[in-house]
Amino acid sequence: MDKFVITGGHRLTGEVTVSGAKNAVVAILPATLLAEGVCRIENIPNISDVSAMLKILKTMGAEIKFINKTTLEIDTSHITSYVVEHELTKQLRASYYLIGALIGRFHRADVAMPGGCYLGLRPIDQHIKGFEALGAEVTMEENAMVSVKADKLLGNAVYLDVVSVGATMNVMLAAVKAKGLTIIENAAKEPHIVDLANFLNTMGADVRGAGTDVIKIRGVESMHGCEYSIIPDQIEAGTYMVAAAATRGDVLVKNVIPKHLESITAKLVEAGATVEEYDEAVRVKMDKAPTHCNIKTMPHPGFPTDMQPQFATLLCLAEGTSFVSESVWDNRFRYTEQLQRMGASIHVNGKTAVIEGNPEGLMGAPIRADDLRAGAAMLIAAMAATGVSELEEIHHIERGYENVVDKLRSLGAQIERRTFPDDEEHAQRNAG
Ligand code: EPZ
Repeated sequence: MDKFVITGGHRLTGEVTVSGAKNAVVAILPATLLAEGVCRIENIPNISDVSAMLKILKTMGAEIKFINKTTLEIDTSHITSYVVEHELTKQLRASYYLIGALIGRFHRADVAMPGGCYLGLRPIDQHIKGFEALGAEVTMEENAMVSVKADKLLGNAVYLDVVSVGATMNVMLAAVKAKGLTIIENAAKEPHIVDLANFLNTMGADVRGAGTDVIKIRGVESMHGCEYSIIPDQIEAGTYMVAAAATRGDVLVKNVIPKHLESITAKLVEAGATVEEYDEAVRVKMDKAPTHCNIKTMPHPGFPTDMQPQFATLLCLAEGTSFVSESVWDNRFRYTEQLQRMGASIHVNGKTAVIEGNPEGLMGAPIRADDLRAGAAMLIAAMAATGVSELEEIHHIERGYENVVDKLRSLGAQIERRTFPDDEEHAQRNAG
């Protein structure tokens, strides 16, 4: 079993460069199914969710060539299959974008229900509502296969009952080649929605209004290859910003779009950090205990749910009581148990966590990454704590953070990735 072993108590200082956005690239790679030609994509993050998506596309018949570490060329023009089995989709949530892209390309898709982080129920009813509005027939087959067929795809109005990132992007993917005008109302506005729209437009689509809650898509006959660069990862950037504050450090976070970080910056300032904004970087400094504050997660431009566990960890180190409300997911507080093991006073009451902060309150402990962002929170907690922590289930973290050990070490963190014998084997050896 691989773990991170972290000795806490070291301030993070220096510079770190943010990689391409996970939640953009996992939609942009499936979107290449719509191109009749080669797409050259830059700023690809080296994370396991990308490897999983590339493996799916390769298995389907895509030709993929890495030009350098962060740039690839992908040609999907020889793909003839619209079937994706569970063995492949179970690895990542974003495999649901294959449904929208395959409908756009073949008017057919048989894709097994996706895996991904457990955050409570993760329904796809709004994706299905959108596909049906475009004229598709959607059925759930055996083995949780979502089977979609459409004789014709016709543009239509789609009102999303909940603001959903996945449904907004999936309907965009299905609609770019539908005949006529599709209007998505109550659309999500996250930076990755705008990035997908820009990518589709670079391939010849006609998508307008991305970044607002009404997106208009006029269908086109065909789309071509293109060159594109993925936006920087807002959540990776936010995680390093909060890590800097939690360790009372001074870190320049480079390759960011400061506008995407506004809600995180505002809360860090409220918690007592200094945040300086540059064109493509932000510098976060903290030289005292954080001040308590409250956060409530909301769709963009509100405070992102994907930063909730990391920020709650910072508030465990604050003077006073903070309230953290989760309004996007039903079950995103599992990590609080791990923080309690480290000595934090954090208690969940329904959709709110109440934190009695203590600036010296975290102690190293054996802990676990319950999911991707919970894992990021554990890293922050372990770096801010006194003593040594051993963090398990780190594969969750590697789904979304490129080179996290090297990046943190370059900032002065004491962190190592170590392989331990299996617990059972270990116990047997000890018994023997
Ligand atoms: C995306 O998930 C992200 N994942 C998540 O990031 C992120 O937490 C989430 O958006 C919200 O920002 C990817 O982009 C791959 P939603 P997604 O559809 O699209 C409900 C991370 O850590 N809903 O916006 O699956 C749903 O239950 C991950 O990087 C429906 O009811 O989220 C939730 O309460 C974790 N019906 C809310 O909407 C639907 O059909 C928002 O979900 C779809 C969603």
